[in-house]
Amino acid sequence: MRFSLYGLVLLAGTASSFTTTTPLFGRKLSSLNSASPKAPVFDEVCDTVGVTLTRFMSEVAILNPELSELTTLFGAIDTACKAITNLVKRSQLPQSETLGYEGVVNIQGEDQKKLDVITNDVLKRALRFTGKFGVLASEEEDAPVDLDLADQSETLFSDGEKYVAVFDPLDGSSNVDAGCPTGTIIGIYEHDDSCEIDGDCIGDECLEQEARCLANTLQPGTRLVAAAYCLYSSSTFFTITLGTGVYMFTLDDQIGEFILSKPNIKIPEESSIISFNEANIDNWDAPMKETVYKWRNGTGKSGKKFSSRYIGAMVGDVHRTLLYGGVFGYPGDKKNVNGKLRLLYEGAPMSFIMEQAGGLSTTGTERVMEIVPEIVHQRVPMIMGSKNDVQEVIDAYAAAK
Ligand code: AHG
Ligand code: MN
Ligand code: MN
Repeated sequence: MRFSLYGLVLLAGTASSFTTTTPLFGRKLSSLNSASPKAPVFDEVCDTVGVTLTRFMSEVAILNPELSELTTLFGAIDTACKAITNLVKRSQLPQSETLGYEGVVNIQGEDQKKLDVITNDVLKRALRFTGKFGVLASEEEDAPVDLDLADQSETLFSDGEKYVAVFDPLDGSSNVDAGCPTGTIIGIYEHDDSCEIDGDCIGDECLEQEARCLANTLQPGTRLVAAAYCLYSSSTFFTITLGTGVYMFTLDDQIGEFILSKPNIKIPEESSIISFNEANIDNWDAPMKETVYKWRNGTGKSGKKFSSRYIGAMVGDVHRTLLYGGVFGYPGDKKNVNGKLRLLYEGAPMSFIMEQAGGLSTTGTERVMEIVPEIVHQRVPMIMGSKNDVQEVIDAYAAAK
């Protein structure tokens, strides 16, 4: 069957359209793209192949020359997601030695799975050898990592290393031994070139300066240039936003390419699905608890009686939420006031995707995208999904003030 013409709509007011210099960390960040990137329209599509991710990125680069380096970055991410697909699939074979725990606890106090460590390495290497990244921050790294290929000591970023990557290499890794869905989350920022290291520094002084500069690469979601996730499930899916809508690709195993399967996805505005770890409900804030009680018994704003769907892997739960509508969340509770999810490499990139699909993402009182991270592994309470339903949560928090 021939692909129909993909008329892709441009959206205004995106994260990457921030134009003013914004004071962060006591400094000024240089401005990013002054307008939303242009989205390609595919009026000629090969009947048997479709639109590959490679072609999608090339056409984005033709239309937006300032984004041309993203083709190299996403080329590397494309390869990493395919490699992780194979690792996750093959981990189930009896001869595999990649299931179970690594025997190491990460800086967040979580037991690392072997596959957490392996997939972190796959992504780190893939990104490093693009030569485009100066710094990365990962769930599985204690602190931001300087990826300087050229090993220059005077500036943190060498020429050409324009980007900062943040990622969760294997999201939902507690699912992996059972062969249930897992994912990878990636966010890409431009780096702030105002943080230089004094060339005359000595010893610890240099290390301190470098640590400060690395930490200063952390920016709010409103400054994301791109966000993407890979979902390892019945198929491998690759979903991306560059600030002009959300595009979903499906891996065609036979040709080894991601094929555009859902252009310009829009989440339903209203839903009847909740996706929370409801075992924690007694400890949630009152507005959150009361809204979910109402949804459960059909006395919420829409009058619909909601059902629950919860995979326990954010990428899988958000993917379903994008397609079917619903509300996914991990709110704060009495024990963990900021919930469980991490702002930098889970909250912000997934919120960018959600907002670009027409949904909302909030802590209850704040837009997740606007929170400036103070530390790499900062947690954030998060409720995201269908616009009308998430608005109901925001209204409940506002009324409780
Ligand atoms: P990770 O495996 O990267 O640490 O993330 C797990 C997260 C997220 O994917 C999921 O939504 C949530 O933890 C599930 O937590 P509970 O097991 O507490 O429900
Ligand atoms: Mn995760
Ligand atoms: Mn993870």
